[in-house]
Amino acid sequence: MQKIAVFTSGGDSPGMNACIRAVVRTASYNNLETIGIMHGYEGMINGEFISLTKKSVSNIIQRGGTILKTARSQRFMSKEGMEKAWENLQKQGIEGMVAIGGNGTFTGAEEFSSLYPINIIGCPGTIDNDLVGTDFTIGYDTAINTVVDAVDKIRDTAESHDRVFIVEVMGRDAGLIALRSGIAVGAEGIMIPESKNDISRILARLGKGRKDKSSKIIIVAEGDENGGGYKVAEKVKEKYPNYDVRVSVLGHIQRGGAPTCMERVNASRMGYAAVQALLEGKKNVMVGIVNKEICHTPFSQAIKHIEELNPELLKMMEILSL
Ligand code: F6P
Repeated sequence: MQKIAVFTSGGDSPGMNACIRAVVRTASYNNLETIGIMHGYEGMINGEFISLTKKSVSNIIQRGGTILKTARSQRFMSKEGMEKAWENLQKQGIEGMVAIGGNGTFTGAEEFSSLYPINIIGCPGTIDNDLVGTDFTIGYDTAINTVVDAVDKIRDTAESHDRVFIVEVMGRDAGLIALRSGIAVGAEGIMIPESKNDISRILARLGKGRKDKSSKIIIVAEGDENGGGYKVAEKVKEKYPNYDVRVSVLGHIQRGGAPTCMERVNASRMGYAAVQALLEGKKNVMVGIVNKEICHTPFSQAIKHIEELNPELLKMMEILSL
């Protein structure tokens, strides 16, 4: 193998740059040339290829976002799109690829490599942490720290005004951002897509809590079946007209910012391991870190989001915030 490619795809996440840097430098150490594909699968179809050297990845380990840009490609889901991408890859002489992304990225990678003879290794890049085969995805740690920082500030003002705050966090299909940040900020409740009947549980909890508590914070994952922060606030107001309720939607600030130390280290390890996996002839697997060890999980398994979040953690969060 002489030439590989690396690209980022789907929602960006802090730490992707650290991973790109690790891929390029590990490849260079092993005398492989690296091509960067801009805008993920879209760029593969459009022929947006750039040469990456040890120098081109200087000074990016600390930067959020992705220097390779990213996109969610509809065209890659079609036969024509994949065919065009394959033609372009062949023209470039690319023999293996590292795909940094989440569920959609790996679903596309799996299908692509079943149609064309190319080995693809995945690195889990998503703030949602909703992939099987890694304890932490690249971006999750930074995102939850951003949430914690924001909610600590919200707590200050909530406490001063004796208010109930509904804070909406990201997570279209997954409540892992809500769960972990909820524990860390001492939230009075969380609402997540993985558990049903959240609203009745939360409404009951708001009524039962300690009377001397002046502020209450409910973290709602955007994908919760009740329809996000504003909808939840309406229901709380309906049941408790005397509560002073406010909503804060944190939005895309969760996707930006300098990656944490843990993120940079994990992303570096995964990028390094991804190139090693290509050199060993592995394919269609996502590199992850489980119990501090590098492991490889087939794409088909990695994309299966956990149906139920650790019930013990949920219970603990509720007990600790009584
Ligand atoms: O997949 C990561 C994620 O941040 C989700 O949590 C969120 O629902 C989605 O991306 C938002 O995507 P976009 O920026 O394309 O609207």
